[in-house]
Amino acid sequence: MVTVNLTINGKEYSGETEPRMLLVHFIRDVLKLKGTHIGCDTGHCGACTIQWDGKPVKSCQILAVQAQGANLKTVEGLEGPNGELSIEQESFREKFALQCGYCTSGFLMMTNYLIRNNEEMTREEIREKLHGNYCMCTGYQQIVDAVQDAQRKYFAQKK
Ligand code: FES
Ligand code: FES
Repeated sequence: MVTVNLTINGKEYSGETEPRMLLVHFIRDVLKLKGTHIGCDTGHCGACTIQWDGKPVKSCQILAVQAQGANLKTVEGLEGPNGELSIEQESFREKFALQCGYCTSGFLMMTNYLIRNNEEMTREEIREKLHGNYCMCTGYQQIVDAVQDAQRKYFAQKK
C-alpha cells in the first residue's frame, strides 16, 4: 500500500491506496467524496471530471499514486462557504439541465472551467467544448442553455 497526500478543495487529505487504484476510486472510496461519478472507467463519458491545478481532467484516466501532492478540485468544492450554490449549479438548476443527475458533476466541473477560460462562447462552441462529457438522459439543449446562462452570470459578476 502507498500513502497519497494531496489537497482537494483547499483541504489536505491523506489515504492509503494500492498502486493500481484509479484516482476516481481513491476520491470516492478512500476519501469518501462521492460527488465525482464513474460512468465508464474508459475515458469516454466525463462523469469523473475533476480539476487539477484548475484544468479539467478525467479522474478515471489517472492512478491515485500519480496525484501525490496534487491540488485538485471536485464538485464538492463549488459551493460557497455557507453552502450557497455556485453560478454553475444555480444555472443548471434554473435551466433544468439535469434529469437523473449522474453526469451532472462532470458537466459542472467542465462548465466551471469553460466560463472562466473562454471569451463568450456560442452554442456551437459550447457543444464542441463539451464533447468529452456524455449525458445518457440526452438533456443537451438544457445543458447548453445552462452553460450560456452561467457564462452570462460570470461575465456580469466580473463587471
Ligand atoms: S468514468 Fe471517467 S470518463 Fe467515464
Ligand atoms: S442527467 Fe442523466 S445522464 Fe445526464
